[in-house]
Amino acid sequence: MQYQSSYEKTAHLYDFFDQKGNIGFFCRYASRFSEVLDIGSGTGRIAIPLAQRGTNVCCIEPSPAMRREFMRKLREKDSVVENILLIGGDAGSFSLKRVFPAAFMSGVFDHLLDDAWRLRVLGNISRHLGPKGILVFDVSIVSSRNNALTQAGTCRIGSKEYRRYVGGKMITKNTKQIKLVFEGYDSGRLVEHIEEYGIVGVIDREKILDLLHRSGFIVLNEYGDYDFTRYQEGKELLLIEASKTTV
Ligand SMILES: C[S@@+](CC[C@H](N)C(=O)[O-])C[C@H]1O[C@@H](n2cnc3c(N)ncnc32)[C@H](O)[C@@H]1O
Repeated sequence: MQYQSSYEKTAHLYDFFDQKGNIGFFCRYASRFSEVLDIGSGTGRIAIPLAQRGTNVCCIEPSPAMRREFMRKLREKDSVVENILLIGGDAGSFSLKRVFPAAFMSGVFDHLLDDAWRLRVLGNISRHLGPKGILVFDVSIVSSRNNALTQAGTCRIGSKEYRRYVGGKMITKNTKQIKLVFEGYDSGRLVEHIEEYGIVGVIDREKILDLLHRSGFIVLNEYGDYDFTRYQEGKELLLIEASKTTV
């Protein structure tokens, strides 16, 4: 299977609706290193604050629309440009011929749809980490139930109010199609309607831990939220810190 972007029509709206509040989480890890890899960096939502704190960030992002949005933001922030390298590429196949002390991946693992693909990605990340390198990533333990389209966030951009709706439909036993609808209203009148479709993988925690183990990673920590609270079975969000060796 291959990467198919589900961000081409809505990259310019991404930052307004991403409510994960995880920048502080990744900044805390980044403060230990002078440089990090940010895989699936999107619009630079996490990479730019890391760079502003002095970390060199090498970003990998396959979506042209997300990269365009990232570049637009960088043009407005001259000071961080020299700390950031943005490369078009896929987590499973990018090749930089050098290693990093840490790799971050936020909102990406769910886009990997089968185990062969997940192992390819984990193997490639491992190749780009030094001997004591760590991988920190989040993953949503997506439910295998269909979800009706429901409102998930609003925001105001200029004179428009945007409303986002999210729904999900299982399309195979382990994959779910996500439908995103964005509506733009001007003075209460609907003036814009955008639909975007993506596919996410349904996977449980045991499987993720097994794939990490098979890829040579040792899990150092599992968190259930970005405030570093411990993971509790059944939670939807899983954050993992894994290392290539015991540190
Ligand atoms: C939910 S967004 C998160 C973006 C960013 N990490 C953040 O937290 O703001 C997921 C990003 O992962 C990227 N992505 C999806 N599949 C990928 C893959 N196979 N390799 C690298 N990036 C991927 C998407 O293009 C998108 O930019």
